[in-house]
Amino acid sequence: MKIIDIIELKRDGKMLSKEQIDLFIDEMVKGKVPDYQISAFLMASFINGMNFDETYYLTDAMLNSGETLDIKEISENSYDKHSTGGIGDKVSLILIPILSALGIPALKMSGRALGFTGGTIDKLESIPGFKIDLSEAEISSQVKSVGAVICEATKKFAIADKILYALRDVTATVESIPLIASSIMSKKLAINNKALIIDLKMGSGAFMKNIEDARKLAHTMKDIAIRYNRLCKVAITNMDAPLGYTIGNDLEIIETIQILKGERKSKALDISATLGAYVLKMLKGVEIEEGIRMINETIENHTAYEKLIEIVKAQGGDISYIKDESKFSLSNKALSIYADSDGYVKYDAYKFGKISLLSGCGREKKNEKIDYGAGILFNKMDGEYVKKGDILYDIYCNKDISEIKLLTQSASRILSEPFERQLIYEVI
Ligand code: URA
Repeated sequence: MKIIDIIELKRDGKMLSKEQIDLFIDEMVKGKVPDYQISAFLMASFINGMNFDETYYLTDAMLNSGETLDIKEISENSYDKHSTGGIGDKVSLILIPILSALGIPALKMSGRALGFTGGTIDKLESIPGFKIDLSEAEISSQVKSVGAVICEATKKFAIADKILYALRDVTATVESIPLIASSIMSKKLAINNKALIIDLKMGSGAFMKNIEDARKLAHTMKDIAIRYNRLCKVAITNMDAPLGYTIGNDLEIIETIQILKGERKSKALDISATLGAYVLKMLKGVEIEEGIRMINETIENHTAYEKLIEIVKAQGGDISYIKDESKFSLSNKALSIYADSDGYVKYDAYKFGKISLLSGCGREKKNEKIDYGAGILFNKMDGEYVKKGDILYDIYCNKDISEIKLLTQSASRILSEPFERQLIYEVI
């Protein structure tokens, strides 16, 4: 069979077999399929969709296109956490020390910021000295001694995904459930962890805009995990408003420290507690309510905060920043936005994604330099009652702010009636 025959089948809405998908991915990784044929395959898959078996075959072929990591003695008890990407999403930074303090090891390979969404690795790199490129031996030794590692993927996992994702990005084929599910799961399955918790964001600042699509994606990812004998839960969570009271790299580390010290409340902690409770249930059989109680205890007794210090120290980071977060030097406070009337403030996550990108804390293209001190600090939270003249938020930025100023006009509204947003829609 030739590559063009596989494209033709998909173009005509036929189901592809495992052999056909394996052949396509194999030839593609060997560099034998030109970009225009890969793009045609992606568009045909986007338009005609894929059934579950095809999605599973695609995931498997992508997984087998790269290396895998299995840390003996750890993998049987460890978990990984994935977020489909949101604005102000620092949940991994909060969750990992909490669960590690409760004796649940995390082997977490994270990504960098791209587009609207921030990257855990960039946030951690804002701590001076923090090392993210660890060898397999270093990962293994740290996860055994400290109970958690957060580093950049050093191995070549799911090579096929890199080729496909780069083309999806420029051929308008990103928002496809089978393509998203296979992309995420091929990378997650490459690292052997017993359990996987996925935070599937839904709302204006996320890929998934409605509950029907979010549910479909959740079930697809979970069913793939089950085929590989992994425990998996997918939480569909709100991304209509930014998560927590900061967006940025230094700023989100500061929020994480304050949350773990128990100094401030944040919806980022509420989501972390729920995700954490499901991990405790999957790995230890702990009931959800009891799990939440145990998690809150790690905040009250500072064991999660101590664990954060331990992780930062193990990875070469300067812990004086974690002990005194005023040491982070933020960019200029370039703009403060004030309430223009009394009422309930409503934020739009999508607009804040754009503002944060323009402030310099994210990157539009791979390898672009970012400004660790840039970002947004909210003084009033989504849904809070504000008075005319109150500062809603401050923007830290060392760049030209004219475009940001324009965006701030539509990033928030003041409503006369209170409103509520559901934080966690469902856990599948
Ligand atoms: N994240 C991924 O890794 N892949 C996608 O396709 C979408 C989000």
